[in-house]
Amino acid sequence: MMKVAIIGYGVVGSGVYDILKENRGGIEKRCGESVAVKYVLDIRDFPDHPEREIFVKDFDKILSDPEVGVVVETMGGVRFAYDYTKSALSAGKTVVTSNKELVALHGHEFFRLAEENGCRYLFEASVGGGIPVIRPLARCLAANEIDSITGIINGTTNFILTKMYEEEQSFEDALLQAQRLGYAEKDPSADVDGLDVCRKIAILASMVLGKRVGCGDIPTCGIRGVTDDDMKWAESAGCAIKLLGRAVFRNGRAGVSVEPAMVHKTNPLANIGDVYNGILVEGNMVGHVMFYGRGAGKLPTASAVVADIVDAVRQPGYCGEFSWTDAGDTAFDPAELESEFFVRMCEGSIAAAEKAFAVQDKFYARHDGDIGFITEMMSKNEVNKLLSGIDGVKSVMRLFR
Ligand code: HSE
Repeated sequence: MMKVAIIGYGVVGSGVYDILKENRGGIEKRCGESVAVKYVLDIRDFPDHPEREIFVKDFDKILSDPEVGVVVETMGGVRFAYDYTKSALSAGKTVVTSNKELVALHGHEFFRLAEENGCRYLFEASVGGGIPVIRPLARCLAANEIDSITGIINGTTNFILTKMYEEEQSFEDALLQAQRLGYAEKDPSADVDGLDVCRKIAILASMVLGKRVGCGDIPTCGIRGVTDDDMKWAESAGCAIKLLGRAVFRNGRAGVSVEPAMVHKTNPLANIGDVYNGILVEGNMVGHVMFYGRGAGKLPTASAVVADIVDAVRQPGYCGEFSWTDAGDTAFDPAELESEFFVRMCEGSIAAAEKAFAVQDKFYARHDGDIGFITEMMSKNEVNKLLSGIDGVKSVMRLFR
């Protein structure tokens, strides 16, 4: 029997406990042995819990118990999670996590530690919640060179943008609703300012390269600046506005960005609404592959954690396919990447825009004293250069078809 310790009995940790109980039979069949939770570590007390006796407050109890083979880290944050993960791996215990911040920051250290100690560090739940994406990328698409990954990988911001777009809610009202429904994390800034997406796309990019892409190398812009007007303009251009994490791979390096973008209705990502996530991967052999599902929430995220537990029980020894090292220069400036851009500016600047851009054949419209048009394919550096002498620019967004 495999004994598991869950550290952090919040939304995801309690979901892991529930799934291991509810689906015990099937999990045992797939593991070839039963899996039981021996300890739950949390600073809070759970006096009404049916298994009160498994709750502990001292991590050393877990660490020193040779029966515990897998530690599930669902506590989040970095401070304690880092120390506990390091200690568990050093003791040869596999760690399974949903903690994207820790994976993005310290994953490379933990993979090395796992290798040295013959155990594993698994993180399927850290990106896309319940959507299988880490394993398919590493295993099922192994024949491909990955050209790009473009994802809606934050449920909270997708919920907010969907409400703003479909129900004409303000950003503030939509955020309040997301908080009431329990989608937004404790501090909504990690979601709305794009940090959560930054960590997740850093994880995917690092895994594809096999080398760490640091969050500091990823220009990150959240959705606070997206206005009701942007929504109206997007609609008239046949687009939705989505917060995209994007990584484009070239010559062993990645151009990675996080920013709100216009996504044309013909692109499957435009139709991913509510708290759902969608990740579009482009492989050089397979073409486009899309992953879609619940990117957040108790049971979807816990389902990915439990899948990692099953994997760890079946294959306990180190296996480096989902890992990266901390090696050198991995990022190029995503401003070099070409796309179309949607530009909105004061109507008074129309002559200057016509002179600078070839806008004649592209979507070109006027509303409320503003004009909007779509550029040719160009880099962000080029669009900024063309706009530099023009007054009254109100918004510039990448546009993907
Ligand atoms: N706050 C995150 C989201 C949770 O909304 O997607 C899942 O990582």
